[in-house]
Amino acid sequence: MQSRPRWSSLSKTADVCRREYPVPGVLSLRSLAVAVADASAMARVLSDPSLYRFTGGEPPSVDALTRQYTAQVRGCSPDGRAAWINRVVLVDEGPVGYVQATVPMDDDVAEIAWVIGRPWQGLGYAKRAAELLVEELTGRGVHRLVAMIRPDHVASQRIAAHLGMRDSSEMVDGEIRWTGTVG
Ligand SMILES: CC(C)(COP(=O)(O)OP(=O)(O)OC[C@H]1O[C@@H](n2cnc3c(N)ncnc32)[C@H](O)[C@@H]1OP(=O)(O)O)[C@@H](O)C(=O)NCCC(=O)NCCS
Repeated sequence: MQSRPRWSSLSKTADVCRREYPVPGVLSLRSLAVAVADASAMARVLSDPSLYRFTGGEPPSVDALTRQYTAQVRGCSPDGRAAWINRVVLVDEGPVGYVQATVPMDDDVAEIAWVIGRPWQGLGYAKRAAELLVEELTGRGVHRLVAMIRPDHVASQRIAAHLGMRDSSEMVDGEIRWTGTVG
């Protein structure tokens, strides 16, 4: 029988969540558990309307992000049935985006997503940050990955493919379900 993730070990402290990941020839990329204090800097990172072309939505205000991060730092959904993993992506200590995962407490599947601010795109940061996230998830007992990606979103498809995920051909609300296994 497959072992279940030990979510009780989910850390709410930043130290355990710090991960260093060198980007060759460039800067140091790492991810850090989101904090409410990140709201102001992240509102700037997420301020370009083009970021929402494939996902819908609009640039969040500082207040909206503060509310969102206040909920996210709890580390789980209000009903306690899913773990929320939210990581700010830092390059040379500056925030450039985020990665996130939602993991049901009673399953070993993670739904993952990634966002990199417009000025920092095309530099391989999303791929590196997604790899880091998957590494962390694997360490926490996740064995299956899911990402919902629009059929015309080539960059996200490339990231998913880089993680070993495949297009399942299953369309849900205009997005394709990409799936993969890890660990
Ligand atoms: C999708 C996103 C995270 C990519 O971030 P990024 O840091 O620019 O991505 P990377 O530099 O790591 O590149 C990842 C892959 O996408 C490719 N890519 C990057 N931008 C691309 C573009 N505009 N068109 C086509 N391919 C692109 C890269 O070449 C790379 O593929 P490869 O290594 O196989 O050549 C970023 O564009 C973004 O945040 N978009 C808005 C939010 C979003 O849509 N998130 C995804 C929700 S599913």
